[in-house]
Amino acid sequence: MELITKAIRGTQDVLPEESHKWQHIEQTALAVARDYGYRELRTPVFEHTELFMRGVGETTDVVQKEMYTFKDKGDRSITLRPEGTAGAARCLLEHSLHNGALPVKAAYITSCYRYEKPQAGRLREFHQFGAECFGAAAPQADAEIIALARTVLTTLGVTGVSLHINSIGCPTCRANYHKALTDYFAARQDELCGTCQERLGRNPMRILDCKSPICKEIATGAPVMLDYLCDDCAAHFEEVRACLDTAAIPYEVDTGIVRGLDYYTRTVFEFVSDALGAQAVVCGGGRYDGLIEELGGPHLPSLGFAIGLERLLMVLEAKEAEFPEPPTCEVYFAPMGKEAVRACFGMATRLREVGIAAEYDIAGRGLKAQMKYADKLGARYTLVVGDNELATGKAQLKDMTTGETQEVGLDDSLYTTLYNKALDRQLAGMADLLGGMEEE
Ligand code: HAM
Repeated sequence: MELITKAIRGTQDVLPEESHKWQHIEQTALAVARDYGYRELRTPVFEHTELFMRGVGETTDVVQKEMYTFKDKGDRSITLRPEGTAGAARCLLEHSLHNGALPVKAAYITSCYRYEKPQAGRLREFHQFGAECFGAAAPQADAEIIALARTVLTTLGVTGVSLHINSIGCPTCRANYHKALTDYFAARQDELCGTCQERLGRNPMRILDCKSPICKEIATGAPVMLDYLCDDCAAHFEEVRACLDTAAIPYEVDTGIVRGLDYYTRTVFEFVSDALGAQAVVCGGGRYDGLIEELGGPHLPSLGFAIGLERLLMVLEAKEAEFPEPPTCEVYFAPMGKEAVRACFGMATRLREVGIAAEYDIAGRGLKAQMKYADKLGARYTLVVGDNELATGKAQLKDMTTGETQEVGLDDSLYTTLYNKALDRQLAGMADLLGGMEEE
């Protein structure tokens, strides 16, 4: 039979030796979010296609070119989520969360699906950590959500990222801007790609983030939204900047940020890494004051962001950031003989029940092969158990780092011995940490 060994293009496996890095990123992000008052939200991987068409916008690249859309067996149009915000907004409305205390703060870790041309940092299945704050109109909320994204990045040890912010106004001030953009692009209409020629009449701002090289080139000299902000939007942006200044969060105003999704209003922002090449945006977000209404709900000013986890991991690795040690096997039992195998199974089970990672041979290997395997596992200690050890109830615990051995009992005292050793190590680790902090 032919082997099936190829995953779908643009998707990635996370292998067991890498998964601790993902767990670290995800747990850290959710813990930081908790400090900012965000609790985890989980929504389905697929939604009605209509949600993204209305939420993300029919003239966006995401909806026009990139969605994984299919008919289910009941002939409904279903789409794998290309991003997390629309699903979170749908969930808020479905469960009337906005009728409770506002703002509603939710954080999530999701897989997302976009049919894009795969390259480094751009996948067809990728993952996001996101946060959404529903029902907060004040500019302080914009600064706070930016601060949350930044704290996630800095807590993980990300360096070399810069924050770019812009304001893309509200529907009122945008009407004038659209007119200016339409006039600008109309002069070179024939050179635009087919999709953008159509966008020109419907949503000229989308031309600004088209990936076609010629459209990119034409867009370079286009008018910028900041010059068209109404007084309210300008004042809002001023206050966001003042709050960022107060919190000593460095940023640069980048009039080129328009974001690729239609729901944004006013503040938009991106964290850009110096380590990623073409796909340098690690985090993108902004305010979306009209989205909830667009989906049939009340007027509910809201905002959020999402960090691309694959890109985040790439940055952390490029910067040689530290990850916690992957969990290792505390003790490896090497049984010799049938009776010893049974006894080792019993001891390993008891240890695992009290939270000590233990392994023993289940492959029927000889002693030499077992020790090699224990070494591969990175076991801290090994314990050879044969007839003699079973008869005396004592065995030699070998420290695999130092090579030292110590006689231990094979009864309950073994758990205490191993537990105390783990505790000693933790205390030594904490002392090192404190010593290091004092030196700093
Ligand atoms: P987005 O800018 O489309 O925004 O995506 C957020 C982040 O996801 C990007 O900055 C990038 O790191 C990552 N990302 C996007 N596409 C890919 C891809 N094909 N491969 C790998 N990583 C990718 C959103 O999705 C908004 N929902 C963010 C948001 C939340 N705005 C308000 N609330």
